[in-house]
Amino acid sequence: MKYKTDYILNNKIIMPHFGLGTWQMSKEEARISTELALENGYRLIDTALAYNNEDGVGKGFKNSGLKREDVFITSKLPAEIKGYKETLSAFNDTMENLNLDYLDLYLIHAPWPWDDIGGDYTNKNIESYKAMEELYKQGKIKAIGISNFEKKHIEPILKECEIIPAVNQISYYIGHIQKEITDYLDSLNIVTEAYSPLGTGKTLKLNIVKEMAEKYNTSPASICISYCILNERIVLPKSTHKERIIENFINITDISKEDMLKLNNFDNKISLV
Ligand code: A2P
Repeated sequence: MKYKTDYILNNKIIMPHFGLGTWQMSKEEARISTELALENGYRLIDTALAYNNEDGVGKGFKNSGLKREDVFITSKLPAEIKGYKETLSAFNDTMENLNLDYLDLYLIHAPWPWDDIGGDYTNKNIESYKAMEELYKQGKIKAIGISNFEKKHIEPILKECEIIPAVNQISYYIGHIQKEITDYLDSLNIVTEAYSPLGTGKTLKLNIVKEMAEKYNTSPASICISYCILNERIVLPKSTHKERIIENFINITDISKEDMLKLNNFDNKISLV
């Protein structure tokens, strides 16, 4: 089966199609999971300063023995930290934690702090993004982007900043494909990266997913992950279990066009995360 494995970002940087998500992992879990993932073919690891596990990811990478240029590492500016100087300082913390010379992708974690979802931080986001542009120009970051941004958050960045974001990392799973946002991103050649592709584990229990897993003689996780891959989204399933880390990466199901349409039209009324 053929599917896209390398995404060429809008600044020509190549990003792998599949990564390990590390949200809610302790430092030690992040170290072990990063090592396991890299041993088993993953080449993208996603972390964030706010996960408090960047040093685990950094150690896991070092222990893998892989060359720096062979692994794509993403981190994020915490949603609560906004502003030019604040961004430069948080980025330094990230690089010290990871113990790396450069980062592949740096994202603004969210358009607003988590305790003020929906608040207007337009000017602060622009300041942060300008600091990221500076770090990008200095070669400290290979690509810059955003996470959890909607069209109304992206428009001011496009207007006030020089560099078009390369990636928007958003929650994306069966029944929750945020079509309005992803269509907008596609039109701008901004890659959609799917976090929580298993709906934090809850989509595995959907009847439509269980039925398809039976039909294709595979696991519900494979249906959920393959769905994102076949919709051409970079996918970031999280697991701390060796067998799942391996299975998630290798067990890709060739879901038919007809079944993809069925899944794309599936509207899950229940918010899963
Ligand atoms: P665990 O870390 O114990 O393996 P998401 O990526 O959508 O955030 O989902 C992550 C959740 O799904 C975690 O609770 C993870 O548990 C679980 N998970 C990851 N891979 C699988 C799998 N192959 N089968 C079942 N559950 C999985």
